[in-house]
Amino acid sequence: MSLNNIESLSPVPSGSLEILEIRNIDNNSEEKIKLSLVIPTYNESKNIPTIIQKLTQLLDSRIPQQYELIIVDDNSPDKTWEVALDLMPIYPQLRVMRRTEEKGLSTAVIRGWQVAKGEVIGVIDADLQHPPETLLNLWEKIEQGADLAIGSRHVEGGGVSDWSATRRFLSRGAQTLGLVILPGVIGRISDPMSGYFLVRRRCLFGCTLSPLGYKILIEVLGRGKIGLIGEVGYIFQERQEGESKVTKQQYIDYIRHLIRLRLSLWQINRFIRFGVVGLSGVFVDMTFLYLLSDPSTLALPLTRSKIIAAELAIINNFLWNDAWTFKDISQKQPGKRQKIKRFIKFNLVCLAGLILNVLLLNFFFNVFGLNRYLANLLAIAFVTIWNYWLNLKLSWRSTEIN
Ligand code: GDD
Ligand code: MN
Repeated sequence: MSLNNIESLSPVPSGSLEILEIRNIDNNSEEKIKLSLVIPTYNESKNIPTIIQKLTQLLDSRIPQQYELIIVDDNSPDKTWEVALDLMPIYPQLRVMRRTEEKGLSTAVIRGWQVAKGEVIGVIDADLQHPPETLLNLWEKIEQGADLAIGSRHVEGGGVSDWSATRRFLSRGAQTLGLVILPGVIGRISDPMSGYFLVRRRCLFGCTLSPLGYKILIEVLGRGKIGLIGEVGYIFQERQEGESKVTKQQYIDYIRHLIRLRLSLWQINRFIRFGVVGLSGVFVDMTFLYLLSDPSTLALPLTRSKIIAAELAIINNFLWNDAWTFKDISQKQPGKRQKIKRFIKFNLVCLAGLILNVLLLNFFFNVFGLNRYLANLLAIAFVTIWNYWLNLKLSWRSTEIN
């Protein structure tokens, strides 16, 4: 292998695992790339020549020069990357990335997508367990308008070749677990375990995909903006060369992955922030309630005092929420008018909350005879949850349609 060859390696992106818009590609010098297919590899030197030959033949018949095959190898001990580099002169659409720092299937796929130029990006295993011919059916789904085209073992024409009862059971069990934890995500497709799919890049713009686990399709579905989905049946072939890299750890990672995605879709972090801001509001509210209503200070009537204290807390909370809790959304709606609109909505939601708050405060104070501050605290806790949901749905609603 010549030195020249090594220089043909694609650069390895570092930093965040975000999928960005395609950088301005010089349209004159390059044919526009429609499809970028990533092939993650670890010790697949024996499979690489065959899969590249087959994929090239298929894609040349359909979209000649408008595709690229990107091998992402994790510095395999069997020198898969070197074998791949040697193939480059024969296959002009082939690109090779050799990673020495990062490891793992998911990040390999994402790094490949980050250097990809295609409007459609995808992934296929290198070991020929995914039949290459199915790719053209997947491409057809995309051409028919699908955002995501998935090779599935569980639709017509799909299946597994020679799996033991245990492996079938584990695979189905994993899918059922996924359905329980993430019904809205896993429930959309028949084979969420698939690692054979194509997706429109624009559906993933701005999404940072999590590197955890093996099942990147779940990330794409959970975090991407995926409309139409097409599924194509395929038979999961037996491995002829090399070995599977699946270990017990992958099952554990899968469960962690589901839980993480669940929490992230529930926006738990956001709620915690909202709660922290809410606490600062409690402080403002309590302080003014004391200053205005306590018999030792101004001794104003309780309800009137509460309304003033609460409005000051609302202003405090809005400023913090806009700058911190919902920063990602307010940044996308930066205008003054939009901010005022958010403030008015926030106020209305909180005003409704305030009425509820006053009712609850009076109820706890007068009916249950609780201490006024404890009563106020309880009322605020109820109203925080009410406020969070309504504000999420109204005030800081991202205008994009999912
Ligand atoms: N770069 C890189 N780094 N590639 C990897 C790594 C890694 O750490 N681990 C595995 N791969 C590559 C393999 O070389 C192969 O091309 C592909 O990823 C799948 O790995 P296998 O070890 O063959 O997995 P499998 O046969 O159990 O396949 C299962 O997982 C696939 C990926 O999600 C099945 O569920 C498939 O349907 C699925 O596509
Ligand atoms: Mn495999």
